[in-house]
Amino acid sequence: FSFGAVLQISAGFQQVKLGERGRRRRDFHDAGINTRQAMEHVKDSKSGTSGTPINLTANFFRILSRPQWFLYQYHVDFNPPMESRRLRSALLFQHEEVLGSARSFDGALLFLPLRLDSKETVLFSETRNGEKVKITVTLTNELPPTSPVCIQFYNIIFRRILRILNLQQIGRNYYDPHDPLNIPQHRLTIWPGYTTTILQYESAIMLCTDVSHRVLRSETVLDFMANLRQQWGPHRFPEICTKELVGLIVLTKYNNKTYRIDGIAWDHTPNNTFKRGDTDISYKNYYKTQYGLDITDGNQVLLISQVKRGPLGAPLPSPAMLIPELCYLTGLTEKMRSDFQIMKDLSQQTRLSPQEREGRLHRFVTNLQKNPEAQAELDKWGLSFDKHLLKMTGRILPQEMIFQGSTSYHYQLNSADWSKEMRGVPLISCPPLNNWFIFYTRRNSSETQSLLQTLGRVSGPLGISMQRPVMIQYEDNQEYLLRALRQNVGPQTQMVVVVLPSSSKDKYDSVKKYLCVSCPTPSQCVLSRSISRPQAIMTVATKIALQMACKMGGELWSVEIPLKQLMIVGIDCYHDITAGRRSIGALVASLNQGMTRWYSKCVLQDKGQEIMDGLKMALSGALKDYLKFNNCLPSRIIVYRDGVGDGQLHSVVNYEVSQIIDSIKSMGHDYLPRLSVVVVKKRLSCRFFAHMNGKVINPLPGTVVDSEVTRPEWYDFYIVNQTVRVGSVSPSHYNVVYDTSGLKPDHMQRLTYKLCHMYYNWQGIIRVPAPCQYAHKLAFLVGQSIHKEPNMYLDNLLFYL
Ligand SMILES: *[C@@H]1O[C@H](CO)[C@@H](O)[C@H](O)[C@H]1NC(C)=O
Ligand SMILES: *[C@@H]1O[C@H](CO)[C@@H](O)[C@H](O)[C@H]1NC(C)=O
Ligand SMILES: *[C@@H]1O[C@H](CO)[C@@H](O)[C@H](O)[C@H]1NC(C)=O
Ligand SMILES: *[C@@H]1O[C@H](CO)[C@@H](O)[C@H](O)[C@H]1NC(C)=O
Ligand SMILES: *[C@@H]1O[C@H](CO)[C@@H](O)[C@H](O)[C@H]1NC(C)=O
Repeated sequence: FSFGAVLQISAGFQQVKLGERGRRRRDFHDAGINTRQAMEHVKDSKSGTSGTPINLTANFFRILSRPQWFLYQYHVDFNPPMESRRLRSALLFQHEEVLGSARSFDGALLFLPLRLDSKETVLFSETRNGEKVKITVTLTNELPPTSPVCIQFYNIIFRRILRILNLQQIGRNYYDPHDPLNIPQHRLTIWPGYTTTILQYESAIMLCTDVSHRVLRSETVLDFMANLRQQWGPHRFPEICTKELVGLIVLTKYNNKTYRIDGIAWDHTPNNTFKRGDTDISYKNYYKTQYGLDITDGNQVLLISQVKRGPLGAPLPSPAMLIPELCYLTGLTEKMRSDFQIMKDLSQQTRLSPQEREGRLHRFVTNLQKNPEAQAELDKWGLSFDKHLLKMTGRILPQEMIFQGSTSYHYQLNSADWSKEMRGVPLISCPPLNNWFIFYTRRNSSETQSLLQTLGRVSGPLGISMQRPVMIQYEDNQEYLLRALRQNVGPQTQMVVVVLPSSSKDKYDSVKKYLCVSCPTPSQCVLSRSISRPQAIMTVATKIALQMACKMGGELWSVEIPLKQLMIVGIDCYHDITAGRRSIGALVASLNQGMTRWYSKCVLQDKGQEIMDGLKMALSGALKDYLKFNNCLPSRIIVYRDGVGDGQLHSVVNYEVSQIIDSIKSMGHDYLPRLSVVVVKKRLSCRFFAHMNGKVINPLPGTVVDSEVTRPEWYDFYIVNQTVRVGSVSPSHYNVVYDTSGLKPDHMQRLTYKLCHMYYNWQGIIRVPAPCQYAHKLAFLVGQSIHKEPNMYLDNLLFYL
């Protein structure tokens, strides 16, 4: 028996208050939003039809339960009222013979797998002091397996199981301290673990689980604090230290537990004492007697970690006080992330082939099934898990034809890339390059010459007509470079190429700032190192030529898009942590039928302001430009919204959609285009596996999944873009939250996949529709380098690629 057919979960999920310990999971909030019911055309089916069916497995396991299973919810009342939750539990569970051993109680709500004989059960208990307490247990609800409360409840039970399996919770996921991977050369350790979510999927309630890894460092918080003190001096130390430490997760090896740092107790040292039983004991002595550990630095201040929030107004337990010397940092620093060698060594350990990944997931569920204690807990509740990964079918969409100038070609399906095919084939169009500059330093003049020559060789066959540029030598200094730009670049300049001697973010930023804001001109920065190898110069120069072409408004290639008068919009955002946590929203909209010309706008927003507030103007700007390009407004608009975090779906559905509609209405009362809004998600724990000749492989690019692992309350589907050579692919998820387009699901899926072919900075299929990736690039450039809105003269160019 598996949980019933399609069942709708209606809104109101947020109101459920189970006494769950730990952080509230924001992804549950998204579950309560039913957007499908408002879309007549997908009520019965949201499945597409085109393509070749393929058998797949996915990282999902069905939850099975006894027939006629219900969860019974009771309200528990104490008379006289009892303050302490622990006491309330103890008093209640003096009646195991009535209540049974399977129970979940948060101090007020009680869940049992059984129905008590009468609606109201009165029990009498006694406290240790002999006080008599009357307990009234009232049945308030009988919950079917698919009810939202039950689903939250399964997650709670499942977390119990994970603890029984000796896994450690860090953040949302669970990790295994007993099976560590060491990377001694970087002084790092990796704990393998799992992400787990139990939700109502299309036709069943399932556990979705994926492999996850957590990096642990051998640096202690004490080392970290010493570094900070040295770097910032004693005066600024307390402020910086608080800022850097609060929120970090640390590991204490004496018990293999992790804690979140919530504060620093500046007035505490290991000499301070706390009450243990009836006596006072110093932290120093405590660690000595309890764990045999000697604390060497007696002057260190202590760290505070609030014990996780208890249920429903129960008094908070006192916080844990931690010794910096005994706390190890977890996760990677920014510096580590940008270290190529570290990342390479890490990914060697953590990147799993589809075969390995599927194997690990199987082992996880098998271990769960073999553990008697875990099984006993599940049995008590009448629950169990399917032994096998979910089997299902997907479809591989037909391969797209790429049109380039007067030619067209198919790409290699297993690489999903056409960089070879496009070589020596003229582009659709490119403005002739008559007035342009190359800036370079004296010591990089030979590389620059060879770049220029090679550009000359590759541009002809691509159909790019290139006059000789003006060559400007600059002193290797940011001021001199800026001065050289000011003196030479003018309104007629079509393109500025700057050869940078080394990778200096400051120089790059100042070039971009000047040429995107003060003196709007497309520009291309080139690192001298990248053009120094003669073997690679053809490839690099081809890339540079293509980038220059599309930055000036050139059109590289296209795919067939049958819909007329269509405007595609991509929206993404970027959170600028440096500049007062402003957020940056970017909107990119197509201006022509071939999706080869785009309007781009970026807005900077203050903290707390909604992204769409600023982008409303951008959308009307896009519509006005569309009108100029086409002499008509689009009759169909499809908005792909990327960058929506867990728990934010609600605000897209309830706020952004109406903002978009307002913005469209501002074009005139009788203008009523069809509109779709699609939320795009890339970071998923969902994985698909294909099978060939007994081996587990990645599904081919263009594999669409629109059943089983989708959600009953959404109009959603998944698309895989790629076959990666190493590791497992990760699909993208599309959730159509608003749709008056009249397009069939099949058309929506195919159009979405076509748009993944249109990103001009990558001669292949990307994970999201091109306008999302453009918007991402634009927001990133502004957030990282420019920190200002780009000049409106650049609106119709892909200047940010
Ligand atoms: C999928 O699997 C079923 C049996 O489970 C088999 O009958 C069918 O031929 C398979 N389809 C494909 C496309 O491999
Ligand atoms: C903690 O985990 C390590 C492996 O990472 C293990 O060797 C050690 O025994 C564990 N310690 C405790 C107290 O569980
Ligand atoms: C802690 O106690 C030890 C021994 O009692 C003493 O030597 C040390 O100075 C004390 N440290 C602080 C910070 O009070
Ligand atoms: C470019 O010039 C810088 C000094 O200005 C030099 O350090 C660098 O090595 C040069 N690049 C190449 C590839 O020669
Ligand atoms: C799929 O998309 C991702 C992200 O956009 C990209 O890194 C990857 O190379 C793409 N795969 C192929 C085969 O094009």
